[in-house]
Amino acid sequence: MILLNPGPVNVSDRVRRALLEPDICHRESEFSDLLADIRHKLLQAFVPGAESEYTAIVLTGSGTSAVEAALLSSIPQAKRALVLNNGVYGERLSAIVNTQRLGIPELKFEWGTRLDPAKVDLALKQHPEVHVVAAVHHETSLGVINPIEELAEVVDRHNRVFLVDSVSGLGGEPLDIAGAHLYLVAGAAQKCIQGFPGAAFVLVRKGFMERMLKYPKRGIYLNLATYYEAQEKGSIPFTPAIQVYYAFREALAELLEEGVANRIRRYRRHAELIRRRMEEMGITPIVPREYRSNSLTAFALPRGMTYASLHDRLKARGFVIYAGQGRLESQIFRVANIGALEDRHILEFLDAFQDVVRKAERNV
Ligand SMILES: Cc1ncc(COP(=O)(O)O)c(C=O)c1O
Repeated sequence: MILLNPGPVNVSDRVRRALLEPDICHRESEFSDLLADIRHKLLQAFVPGAESEYTAIVLTGSGTSAVEAALLSSIPQAKRALVLNNGVYGERLSAIVNTQRLGIPELKFEWGTRLDPAKVDLALKQHPEVHVVAAVHHETSLGVINPIEELAEVVDRHNRVFLVDSVSGLGGEPLDIAGAHLYLVAGAAQKCIQGFPGAAFVLVRKGFMERMLKYPKRGIYLNLATYYEAQEKGSIPFTPAIQVYYAFREALAELLEEGVANRIRRYRRHAELIRRRMEEMGITPIVPREYRSNSLTAFALPRGMTYASLHDRLKARGFVIYAGQGRLESQIFRVANIGALEDRHILEFLDAFQDVVRKAERNV
């Protein structure tokens, strides 16, 4: 099955085979070596040249575990978070801070538009109690890339902490984490890194990590300070998904061999192939060209077809597409192009898609 949903993705045989590494105990040196290797590779991939300024915290969980851990660990007593929301994952950031009443009213933007740095500037002038500003890099709900570097400049100018959910961005979209002085960036193994679900991570500026050691602990499992203290000693506080970590290490090795810039280029080329052929068929992307990501496109459904009929016919041919979310659910479909996919997979999908749509048109 070719997965054209935004994760979990098709992985390479090499990554799949890594699941079969020997059974080990997470309190033994073999696990410390595995963890150290993953942390090192994360820094090499995402903060090249600034490895000594950041630390990588690895967690067992899906992307949301890393996002929640980052948010709830980074707000000191009596301070607040400001969430920037232009889609489902921005909404989730708000939901997380609201569970603990740690937010000021979020800044909400229309779906399909980008976050606006000028509005953030104004909000930060009005709200000295805001310590953390949280935003999504690649808003996967429609495939919008937010202007993280411009936002970071504003947040930095106000001396606040910028937290970025790049769960669907890292590895597939450019992000200059060190250059933009991002304090916390959450990611996960099962999207553009091309690993399996079950491993997530947060990249944290080291100086800020030391400060967070003194912040309130708002949970037991998802506290970054707890992980940091253990991981610095080569240990981990809770039982990790060891086999998934083996595969994660292999996926990171593969990413470093391909090169992050080359992976981004591959995704961009595939996204362009998809968009061009779809437009030739009269199926148009929802998001303006300048905001589109490299790894996912939201399209209006072909005339006369429901999502269910399109999805089921494509699945019968071996391709999984993805539904829309929220109020656009019945009007759109999404095609992601992440994972261990080659040009031929994309071309075969497009041929199948064209055939399905033509047959449906004939039956109208
Ligand atoms: C931007 C973004 N953030 C967070 C998540 C949540 O990740 P998970 O489902 O792994 O918890 C996703 C998943 O698609 C995402 O796209």
